[in-house]
Amino acid sequence: MSRAGAMAEKVLVTGGAGYIGSHTVLELLEAGYTPVVIDNFHNAIRGEGSMPESLRRVQELTGRSVEFEEMDILDQAALQCLFKKIMRVHGVKNLVFSSSATVYGKPQYLPLDESHPTGSCTNPYGKSKFFIEEMIQDLCQADKTWNAVLLRYFNPIGAHASGHIGEDPQGIPNNLMPYVSQVAIGRREALNVFGNDYDTEDGTGIRDYIHVVDLAKGHIAALRKLKEQCGCRIYNLGTGTGYSVLQMVQAMEKASGKKIPYKVVARREGDVAACYANPSLALEELGWTAALGLDRMCEDLWRWQKQNPSGFSSQA
Ligand code: UFG
Repeated sequence: MSRAGAMAEKVLVTGGAGYIGSHTVLELLEAGYTPVVIDNFHNAIRGEGSMPESLRRVQELTGRSVEFEEMDILDQAALQCLFKKIMRVHGVKNLVFSSSATVYGKPQYLPLDESHPTGSCTNPYGKSKFFIEEMIQDLCQADKTWNAVLLRYFNPIGAHASGHIGEDPQGIPNNLMPYVSQVAIGRREALNVFGNDYDTEDGTGIRDYIHVVDLAKGHIAALRKLKEQCGCRIYNLGTGTGYSVLQMVQAMEKASGKKIPYKVVARREGDVAACYANPSLALEELGWTAALGLDRMCEDLWRWQKQNPSGFSSQA
């Protein structure tokens, strides 16, 4: 959320201690914004004092301090209090929403553009993203003083080039690349490849993997768009290129120099064969395009993994 026109441009970042959040906070700082972060530590490790370890490292990397409050976004009273304290007035009517390509459900055509039908997604996560998209669109329609940019993320992977911040899923990773990199570092024995009988070149699932730093920069572009009083706008954040599970394994083997054993198991329920973006609208209207390719994604992921074999709980 941003309050356009304010002297020190503060941006409230919810969930800012997490993987995408921490990388976005770093990009905000570098672009001259003042992020104010709230997070409930659901998927973040505590560092010194009250700071999440991820944000302590963002401070170290940028040499700037981050305003942070431990808070649950469902805690209305606390949120109101924060708004009063940091913004004096409740004049925040600009927001960037983190949506997901999962709102498209099973693709009717590829690549997916923003006009592809949404809502037929079956999992609760996708449905919740879809419902919130709908609510924000209704709000902007009904009240023209609101502006919103809905960003449909494809598959963010990789880490900041320093290797100091990255993805640190708690428990067994659900997503492909955190799992693959934990196999590469020896934390897990072998990858389970969820099906090799899809209608794709090598039979494994195809996704549009995007470097998390590119994704974070997409938010800066979105904030600039809000300044134009843009109403509600929707953009895919992807590269436009799809890679299969086996191509990803190979790319990670190349980046890490490690063999990544895998076994093929049954398909995972709810998975689609292929999902990748047409990212041209974001280029046209936001001037944003993904700059970092697959090799960089895997090299940066590997650097983070190697330097932090147990994620943020590792001794730096
Ligand atoms: N995969 C495996 N083995 C694994 C994990 C994943 O073979 O251990 C495969 C999947 O079948 C898929 C590909 O790797 O083909 C990518 O899987 P991810 O879970 O990394 O990504 P998805 O596109 O399936 O998931 C994304 C988001 C989720 C979101 C989901 C909803 O990352 O947050 O879309 O569809 F919930």
